[in-house]
Amino acid sequence: MSSQVTLDESSLDSLDVIGPDTYMKHGYPHAAWKRLRRESPVHWFDLPGGVGFWAVTRRADLVWISKQPKRFLNATRLAIFEEGAPPEERDVRHLLNMDPPEHPKYRATASSWFTPRAIRSRHDEVERITRELLDEMAGDGEWREADFVDDLAAPLTLAVLADMLGVPREDWRLMFRWTNQIAGSADPEFQTEGGDGSADAGMIDARDGMFQYFMALSQKRRTDPRDDIVSVLARSTIDGDPMPVMELLSYFMLLVIAGNETTRNAASGGLLALIENPGEFGKLRKNPDLVDLASEEIVRWTSPVIQFCRTPIEDVEVAGKSIKARESMCLFYPSANRDEDVFEDPDVFRIDRSPNPHLGFGIGEHFCLGANLARLELCAIFRQLALRMDEVELAGPYERTRSSFLGGVKRMPIRYRLRHS
Ligand code: HEM
Repeated sequence: MSSQVTLDESSLDSLDVIGPDTYMKHGYPHAAWKRLRRESPVHWFDLPGGVGFWAVTRRADLVWISKQPKRFLNATRLAIFEEGAPPEERDVRHLLNMDPPEHPKYRATASSWFTPRAIRSRHDEVERITRELLDEMAGDGEWREADFVDDLAAPLTLAVLADMLGVPREDWRLMFRWTNQIAGSADPEFQTEGGDGSADAGMIDARDGMFQYFMALSQKRRTDPRDDIVSVLARSTIDGDPMPVMELLSYFMLLVIAGNETTRNAASGGLLALIENPGEFGKLRKNPDLVDLASEEIVRWTSPVIQFCRTPIEDVEVAGKSIKARESMCLFYPSANRDEDVFEDPDVFRIDRSPNPHLGFGIGEHFCLGANLARLELCAIFRQLALRMDEVELAGPYERTRSSFLGGVKRMPIRYRLRHS
């Protein structure tokens, strides 16, 4: 390992920016990232029992690395997992662990479903689902209680994505269970035992269940195509041949997980931020047209994707550190989103922040395919809340997911007064 760690910097080594327990108990380690940005913006951390990593914490460095996809690869290591790569990520091959020239070919197969125009055409449907879910939560002006994640954020994101994929309504619950089990792999709450009694096997069972499901659905859609993503991918070709089976199934898994967990966490974290900053909620209620800016600020503030990794193919110097080829570089998006060189008062939640060049959706070759969809869903939720929710507060303690990869609030009991639409 080639770090040029000075004596001063060694005191940074004890900071914990990767332990999932830290994230669950204390939330994102913003104080640690702040120190790193200031004192050692590219900093080496050893991992007990595993290969260490460079923590990259400044926005400019994240951008510089992400924009050179041939020099800094995704395939070598997807992200840093303190307890080793989760079982469901072993052997899979999806956009996030592909590199050029393969990656753009795969990305192109689904991208027409996610263009601004394609997503705009889903506007009415997303508004309708949001309104219906909120109507179920609403009363006649009296105080009510609900869990914001279970009753709104989770079913909304699931319904929108399952519909786009072409998963029949009766199977949505199944999809929900698999995503929770797979994406919450470090979280004991979502772990189930597999055939051999271990949590790892439980995760593999969930992944295999999802794979078998999509295998059967793809076969159906190949002969009887509909206007949905499963039909498009099942019939797609790469260099003239049908997309290989593992790549096809991994694609579905990526869409289901990336499409559900992230937006759900942005929504719950966004409402939490509004509850904790009532003045900002007041601003939004007074002027619901601020919802586009507010949604961007919510993504900056919550940064549901915590990190992805890049691996340089050659020795390289970044922020004064000599990185050896094949050493992992961990890009911390929530840290870039609080970079004081870029954001004024980065630790202040401000719904009308503009400009807001956050990296919540990443940047460059792998920029989030679903960013427009996520924005549409967040705007639908927060516009409706601004128009209809007169009062809201926490009805008990909220709980965070045990993960340093996809983070957020997984349970949030609220008490509120919400009007029918
Ligand atoms: C607030 C919600 C979301 C956040 C914060 C988020 C964040 C991200 C981030 C940080 C990346 C990696 C970008 C990079 O490496 O530069 C990514 C990639 C991706 N996201 Fe999202 N995402 C969200 C919602 C969605 C939705 C709704 C979908 C829809 C299915 C989606 C699908 C994907 C896919 C397929 C990729 C891989 C793109 C590639 O490698 O080319 N995401 N997302």
